[in-house]
Amino acid sequence: MNQPTSQATTCVHAGSQKDTTAKGVNTPIFTSSAYDYLDVDVHAYPRYFNTINQQVVSDKIAALEKGEKAMVFSSGMAAITTALFSILKTGDHAIFQNDLYGGTHHAVTNELSRFGIKYTLINSLSAEEFEKAILPNTKLIFIETPSNPLLKIIDISAISALAKSNSILTLIDNTFASPINQNPLELGIDIVLHSGTKYLGGHSDLCCGAVISSEEIMHKIWSSAIHFGGSLDAQSCYLLERSIKTLSIRVKQQNSNALAISKFLESHKKISNVYYPGLSTHPQHHLASRQMSGYGGMLSFEVTTDPDVFVKKLKLIAPAMSLGGVESTITSPAQTSHSKISEEEKEKAGISNYLLRLSVGIEDADDLINDLDLALNGNT
Ligand SMILES: Cc1ncc(COP(=O)(O)O)c(C=O)c1O
Repeated sequence: MNQPTSQATTCVHAGSQKDTTAKGVNTPIFTSSAYDYLDVDVHAYPRYFNTINQQVVSDKIAALEKGEKAMVFSSGMAAITTALFSILKTGDHAIFQNDLYGGTHHAVTNELSRFGIKYTLINSLSAEEFEKAILPNTKLIFIETPSNPLLKIIDISAISALAKSNSILTLIDNTFASPINQNPLELGIDIVLHSGTKYLGGHSDLCCGAVISSEEIMHKIWSSAIHFGGSLDAQSCYLLERSIKTLSIRVKQQNSNALAISKFLESHKKISNVYYPGLSTHPQHHLASRQMSGYGGMLSFEVTTDPDVFVKKLKLIAPAMSLGGVESTITSPAQTSHSKISEEEKEKAGISNYLLRLSVGIEDADDLINDLDLALNGNT
């Protein structure tokens, strides 16, 4: 493919391989798990992450994140744990932002110590606080921005500069932003992760993950990944490839819907707080404007009434645990993604029982606002 000029073009064309048999415009699905080993340069096998459908979608994701190489996994958590355990070993220390997706937080606090890996969780967003936690054996800094569920923004360039000056690798969960709104490799981050179950998949019908980095780092991750075995099957790779073709237009619509909805919620008397980096009242709005090209489709807010009663009154917006789909969904982080975290930890992280997280879809913004308005005013 010629050099693409924009992310929208990359979404459609990057990675594609010609269908030389039927001359169709889409990548065929190659379902084999057994491949010829004679007279070939590479021994293909699905668990080696090197079959055609795996490579096509990985190349598309690498192009979108401006990385040299990508790999796709059977879930976001498979991507995260494979990356962590391929980089860290017994005796190492890693630094994590405390405000992380609940599943990642739980994996860090439950798995790392069992393998003799020490970690520090940082409550603050400032690079100075991360610096204070650096030890001689610190090998990795893991951040997530915008964070789940409070949409906090951390300075990606400041963290990557700090890590580089201490020879520490950096890893970011870029799920909430998607590659359309934020490209952390360009800001100095070493490794980007996605739960592809969310925006990359985008239709609430796929479970997958992705890791993107340099050839050298990806080779290290691949060497462990083939042992851990979290690869993605051909049909899912094809679905993911097809979904990403519309990623840019989906995310742009979600960005604009989320901004309109957060402005509406901010002015509503039954809402006490709105968390959306696109609002000028968001504490890190300027930082978000600097490092993101769009503010995303995720926002959170606190209701002053019973959140379950409010959610049940919604007609269009569905109560659902995942995010990033074309349909708008709403969830209570305290009851779902962060339910395994202790009450004390939840309070420390600012996750109240009145907090709701909205994943804004591609529906008409006025219809979504109307749905929220009717449910808030009790006229349903
Ligand atoms: C920000 C973020 N990262 C990672 C994950 C884990 O992804 P998966 O559920 O695909 O394993 C999630 C899931 O909700 C998430 O929201």
